Amino acid sequence: MSSEVKIPPTIIVIFGVTGDLSHRFLLPALHQICLARQLPNAHKIIGVTRQNISFEDLIKISPSGSKAVEALNALKNNFELLTMDLTNSKDYEKLKNHLDNSCSSLGKNTQVIFHFAVPPKSSLDIIRFLGEAGLNTANIKLLLEKPFGIDLLSAEDVISQTAKHFGEEQIYRIDHYLAKEMAQNITVFLGSNALFRNVWDNRFIEKINIVATEKIGIEGRVAFYESTGALRDVVQSHLLQLAALTLMEPCSDNFSLSEIADRRLKALQGINQPDLSRVVRGQYEGYKQEAGRPESTRETFVSLVLTSHDLRWEAVPVQLTTGKSLDKKLTEISVYFKKTQESQTNMLRLRIQPKEGIEFDLWVKEPGYDRRLQKLPLSFAYEQHFDKLPEAYEQVLVDAMRGSKNIFASSEEVLTTWRILQPLLDHWQSQSNDLRIYKPGSSAQEVEKLA
Ligand code: BG6
Repeated sequence: MSSEVKIPPTIIVIFGVTGDLSHRFLLPALHQICLARQLPNAHKIIGVTRQNISFEDLIKISPSGSKAVEALNALKNNFELLTMDLTNSKDYEKLKNHLDNSCSSLGKNTQVIFHFAVPPKSSLDIIRFLGEAGLNTANIKLLLEKPFGIDLLSAEDVISQTAKHFGEEQIYRIDHYLAKEMAQNITVFLGSNALFRNVWDNRFIEKINIVATEKIGIEGRVAFYESTGALRDVVQSHLLQLAALTLMEPCSDNFSLSEIADRRLKALQGINQPDLSRVVRGQYEGYKQEAGRPESTRETFVSLVLTSHDLRWEAVPVQLTTGKSLDKKLTEISVYFKKTQESQTNMLRLRIQPKEGIEFDLWVKEPGYDRRLQKLPLSFAYEQHFDKLPEAYEQVLVDAMRGSKNIFASSEEVLTTWRILQPLLDHWQSQSNDLRIYKPGSSAQEVEKLA
């Protein structure tokens, strides 16, 4: 579709331009978008920082030889730095004047996108200051990073505080998993292939497993991780969204992208609260020392089983598993087809990362005089057919510029995911002796088997 969407003149304001998110993802993504000629000719990138630094200083503090340095050099003609203190309401006047001037120079219909690459706890104040300064007109969009609350109550509060100043149509809540190429492909794959579309329900499917495991630990993000943990960090957002993409009613071949968010929401609304007796939570050995909290019960691993009351999925268990410091980096959805008396089970694997692609197990006759079966994969790997895949943040920025909201989480989706998990959060509040300590490098299955 959308290469035809005409993007108006655009100003992208990065709050926190000197931070990690900006260096690792945003600047390199903007560079790629620029190379792909998806930035409108009339554009400006404004990096906001509290420090009074020059462009050369910014280059110097970026990790040397990094993609950020390459990006900054490529983007420099349309790049400006603005020094302001985001905690000081007065500085928003300065921002407003700066933007008023930039908008007049770029053209009347210029849109402004504020990307919040700042610690999440500062977002609400910034939103309020923007609103109070009149920086909330219809041409302004917010690109917000998770987490959106730490439980149902706080999510309701974050959402209602934001709604005081901005309309829902102006708010783009990022879940970068929704922007991953293979995650986007789930909808297309299920909608366009009759073979799978027609068997996509509980008559044929026995169970679904969705995993997102990581080799890395918390990488120094102690404060963040101590206030979140695996359930809030990955299950509430990424894994439930992958579940929604898997369980949602497949879209028709010529579907409109705007249907996707509604269908995802409907799928989420069908999900029941987790079966508390089947939840496993773990923490990797060494976490407590790393976090400097000898008493910490923060989970770095969680596995839980959900079901849906949508008739299509009744009685199909959906297991979600995530963890840090495990044996491998892997995000994938495994769909098990029912075995019958006449046939074996088949498994479909949608691999989100790495080695993005799709695999389907087939039973074939082993060559020879006997009738012996063997399970072999039928597979499609992106790397064999396509060049480099775009990074998730490229899609995030392009879609925000285009005003296409289908890969962003709506307020209702965010609230629905918290509603699903709240009983588990409450349960954990009242008991902490179920934490399993696992050795770094364990597999998810090994952690599940620990007593
Ligand atoms: C982030 C989490 O949302 O996703 C991190 O906060 C996690 O803890 C990361 O490491 C994983 O993202 P990706 O794209 O590397 O799978």
